[in-house]
Amino acid sequence: MTMIVTGGAGFIGSNFIFYQLKTHPEDRIVCVDKLTYAGNLSTLAPIMEHPKFRFVRLDICDREGVYALFEEEKPDIVVNFAAESHVDRSIEDPSVFLQTNVIGTSVLMDACRKYGIVRYHQVSTDEVYGDLPLDRPDLFFTETTPIHTSSPYSSSKAGADLLVQSYCRTFGLPATISRCSNNYGPYHFPEKLIPLMIINCLHDKPLPVYGEGLNVRDWLYVEDHCKAIDLVIRKGRVGEVYNIGGHNEMRNIDIVKLIVHTLGKSEDLITYVTDRKGHDLRYAIDPTKIHDELGWLPETKFADGIQKTIQWYLEHRDWWEPIISGAYMGYYERMYGNR
Ligand code: NAD
Ligand code: TYD
Repeated sequence: MTMIVTGGAGFIGSNFIFYQLKTHPEDRIVCVDKLTYAGNLSTLAPIMEHPKFRFVRLDICDREGVYALFEEEKPDIVVNFAAESHVDRSIEDPSVFLQTNVIGTSVLMDACRKYGIVRYHQVSTDEVYGDLPLDRPDLFFTETTPIHTSSPYSSSKAGADLLVQSYCRTFGLPATISRCSNNYGPYHFPEKLIPLMIINCLHDKPLPVYGEGLNVRDWLYVEDHCKAIDLVIRKGRVGEVYNIGGHNEMRNIDIVKLIVHTLGKSEDLITYVTDRKGHDLRYAIDPTKIHDELGWLPETKFADGIQKTIQWYLEHRDWWEPIISGAYMGYYERMYGNR
């Protein structure tokens, strides 16, 4: 079987490819990635020569290029991770989010219709449900919670989800969608909360906490997400949405303090900065459906996963040091300079 994995040079896509090569050694993986600022070929370096792996640098919006690749590879399964994924960048400039997240998804699905596939899987996010109030811990997102987005990022992901559902119903595309909560783990790009705080701590730089740090996210170790997607593409029902989450809600400030203490730094590094515009208060997933139908449960406890993650960043400076030089510095200055 041949599987096209888009966005495989990014955080979750690369972890997913490693998981597939380990658990399904009989399958061939073709990674399609444009290598935007968030894509790192160094992540995939150890598998570049793997006989079951091929890397293709390609924009998923490039219709001709995508069709040519499908013609050549005749994939059985397509898993779409490729996306612009950072909320703050979407507030700065929404246009590329619409281009990649919506148009790119439509190009991939058109290629699936033209060449025929067994399964198209859309990797989506819990952010399409909007947010939950902080004072209602009894509320969770289920698959039937209405779409109610807050940021250009989540709106573009929701747009893609609606398009997937329309291709499923109108054209009979055998598609599934998964909506996951916040991931953490190795190869997480330094602009996101957890790696940013670890790396800033290591440099004794201020730790910019938005607002009062009381916003809540439901954190899941990345490998648990990869296992869930693997189950959905192989055993999930066509046309269905599956929520994926760790039942692990944490306030941002508590995560930042945990990182500070683990690295033996001072809480004086914590700096409260102007809040994100439209900042979602709380995300919380009800994963009952994927548990009942596919037997999925998160396996990594946050207390273990966060230690493993911090350790990984300590041991892989060679991965993140080149990333935080150059263009990243310009981004950091723009985003945090006057906050
Ligand atoms: P990421 O930003 O780390 O990686 C995205 C990858 O997509 C990069 O390698 C980038 O080069 C590639 N890419 C971007 N535009 C492209 C294009 N036009 N054509 C081809 N490749 C392109 O993102 P991530 O955190 O790994 O997220 C992967 C997917 O999972 C996204 O769809 C995201 O919406 C979803 N998701 C992420 C989280 C999370 O916590 N990170 C949670 C739920 C869902
Ligand atoms: P992020 O990692 O950007 O993920 P998302 O916005 O998709 O949930 O942010 C996680 C939370 O951390 C979010 O509530 C915003 C907050 N945050 C900060 O307080 N400071 C930061 O520098 C960043 C990047 C995020």
